[in-house]
Order: sequence, then structure tokens, then C-alpha cells
Amino acid sequence: MKVLLIGSGGREHALAWAIAASPMLTALYAAPGNAGIADEAEIAPIDPADHPAVVAFCRDKAIDLIVVGPEAPLAAGLSDELTATGFAVFGPSKAAAQLESSKIFTKTLCAEAGVPTAAFATFTDPDAAKAYVRDQGAPIVVKADGLAAGKGVVVASTVDEAEDAIDAVAAGTFDGDGGEILIEEAMEGEEVSVFALCDGQCALFFGSAQDHKRAFDGDTGPNTGGMGAYSPAPVLTDALRDQVMAEIIQPTLDTMAARGTPYRGVLYAGLMITEAGPKLIEYNVRFGDPECQVLMPRLKDDLLLLLKATADGLLSNMSVRWREAWALTVVVASQGYPGAYDKGVSIDGLEKIDALGDVTVFHAGTKRDGDQIVANGGRVLNVTALGNTVQEAQHRAYNAVDTLDWRGGFCRRDIGWRAVERETKGQ
Ligand code: AMP
Ligand code: GLY
Repeated sequence: MKVLLIGSGGREHALAWAIAASPMLTALYAAPGNAGIADEAEIAPIDPADHPAVVAFCRDKAIDLIVVGPEAPLAAGLSDELTATGFAVFGPSKAAAQLESSKIFTKTLCAEAGVPTAAFATFTDPDAAKAYVRDQGAPIVVKADGLAAGKGVVVASTVDEAEDAIDAVAAGTFDGDGGEILIEEAMEGEEVSVFALCDGQCALFFGSAQDHKRAFDGDTGPNTGGMGAYSPAPVLTDALRDQVMAEIIQPTLDTMAARGTPYRGVLYAGLMITEAGPKLIEYNVRFGDPECQVLMPRLKDDLLLLLKATADGLLSNMSVRWREAWALTVVVASQGYPGAYDKGVSIDGLEKIDALGDVTVFHAGTKRDGDQIVANGGRVLNVTALGNTVQEAQHRAYNAVDTLDWRGGFCRRDIGWRAVERETKGQ
């Protein structure tokens, strides 16, 4: 099978690594890729935003499956254009990608499908939104509609803070489009990410993970794309997993199909495990980054087979097996991230990590410069380890991080703390 993978992050390196292990693979291309992906795939000289060029490349190479990693090309309709030309695509249509690109779309869908989620109200008039917030009281959550790359959400602990957030949304400080303001009930509980492969009708549980969004130890500092993750998420018992699939994922899939916009791809549910059960915080229409990096090493089955079955609507006879092991990934980022940072600094010691043999490094923002690997982004490496306990996985990952020679980089030292605490207490 010939595959084209779209994307350039650690998530896509993990996907490339797992796809490359498939005996069904005959050729793997990636665009735009990175220095790590280039070890697994041939870099295709195309811009993923240039849809006609992507279609022409797929025709030229007789590509059998296109795997779209990030959300932006999906929201821009790349999947639709490829599907219309007859190609099999892993990744939803533009209409179905609204589950991530519009928070209000998702809230409306939840109401229609009976999916448990925080109570909400939407406003275009900031004064009406403020009156509602004063009436409800704090804590309360203010969101901008639209893709906001992890920004555009304020969990306000006071009414004043909520009113400031409303002004920020109304002034367009957040990148959300349309200026629509979403006010949500603040839910309490532990957060967990649940993944499901969806073929339009059928959903297959595809692992759980927890990530660390804040930049610094102790979950402090600014929000980032994610500084590390581990899988599985201990909070997600088998009973909760079944409840999530039956009460959240399947009704979403059924409603999307009934609306004539079936969902095909991976559905990533960000959930809050509240006292009243699991509730949806948000959907993403792609794998998590860095969550994907901890799912792939645990997957026992052939990823390519599963992705193709998802694209072809053939998941009903499939199953997935996972290693009975923990996976943990530590993100090594450029100093300054998520703010401004330097590019082009060389990273040494990667071959020493390879020699350890028990760790996989997925590249995120890296580039090859002669025979050097240099940093080319905010999140640069994902140092990923398996272990029989979460502490073992954590120890292996940090041991590998410490062999790196890269003064321009930093990482959190406490990835997995919540799971380690549970393990230590024997829960
Ligand atoms: P989102 O971009 O929707 O994932 O929100 C970012 C973060 O804000 C989530 O990971 C939660 O920690 C928090 N959050 C969002 N919505 C709520 C809510 N209704 N109640 C409590 N926390 C929330
Ligand atoms: N790690 C969070 C995300 O991929 O959205």
C-alpha cells in the first residue's frame, strides 16, 4: 500500500513510525515532514495547503491512502477534495471537522445527541453575556468559537475575570472567528483524553491518555500544546470507557450520520470525569499531540490496516490490542516556548539515546542542517519510553533526556506525576 502522510509534528512522526512497521506498506511519503519523519518516509515536495498539488501528487504516485495528521487541512476541506477524486482518506470531511473547528457546532450537536457536557449559552452581544455571567456567578468558563490553537478558553474564578474574558472575545483578542461568545458551566473533576476510530457508523475505542498542558512543573506557567503525556489514563476504568463509548462517542457518530455528515477518522474526546459521570469538554478531529506518541508504542496491531479500514468504512469486524505496558513521553522544547524562541540551534546526543535501546525519540520541530539535527520549532523532541510501571517509563524517559546535549532546550521534570502518585499509593 502506498501512503501519503500530511503533517510535520511529533504526532506525525509517531504515525510514520507505526505505519512504517506495517507489512502492507510499499511506499510512505510525507509532506511537509521533519528530520525524524524523513528517516521513515520520503519527503514529498508539495505544500499541503495547495490541494490541487496534493491531488496531482496522489494521482502521480497512485497513493492508496492519505493520512491527515493536523486539524487545519481537515477544516480547510483537504479530505473532501481527495475523497471526491476517488482517494481513500483517513481524516474527516470539512463538515464533520466542525466538531473541532466550531465549539458552538459541537455544543448544539451534544444537545441533539443527548451527549453529557457542561451547560452552556451563546451570545453575540457582550453585555448580554456579562448579564448572564453575573446571574450565574463564578467559577464559569468563557470561550471564543472557532479554532484557537489551545487559546480562547478562560476558566474564570471570579465574575470580574469572566467579564474581562468576554471583552477579550468581543474585541477579537482570541483567534476565534465570528466573535461569538460561549459561556459554560465550570465542571470539576479529572481530565482524560479518549480516542476512537470512527468509520462513519462504527466506533472502536483507540486508547486513553493524559497530557500536561502547562509549560512548567507542578502544572504552572502558560498553556502550551502539551509538554508530555502518558497512556493509559488510570482514571478511565473499563466501566467508564464503556460508558464513554456508549453515551458520548456512539451518539455523536449516529447524529453526524443522521445529519448526512458522517464522521470518518479519529475522534479525540477531551473529557471531564465528574461526580455525575464523564462529560465532554471538547472534541478534536485528529490524534492528540503528544498523546499520539504514547498510543503508538502501546499498539500491538497493524496501524495501517486500522487506518485503511477506518477510511473504507470497514471497522465493524476489527478489534484493537494494546501492550500491557505504560508509555510516557517528555516534550523537550526550545527555551522561551510557548513564547518567542531561537531556531537553528543544533541538538547533540541523539545517537546516545538510540544506543540506550529502550526509548524512542519522536521529532516535532526539527530540521536537518548538513549532518546536524537542529531545532526548528517550539516543541522539538518527544522522548518516549515504555515501562511495566509508570515510574519505570518515567525513569527511562528522563534518563534518555539527560543524555541529550542541548542547552537551548527545556522540559518539565514531573510528567506523569498524577499517575505516579496513584501507583505509589497502590490505587
Ligand atoms: P478546550 O480548549 O475546550 O479544551 O479547553 C481548554 C481547557 O480548559 C480544558 O482542557 C479544561 O481544562 C478547561 N475547560 C474547558 N471547558 C471547561 C469547563 N466547562 N469546565 C471546566 N474546565 C474547562
Ligand atoms: N495535546 C492536546 C492536543 O493535541 O490538542
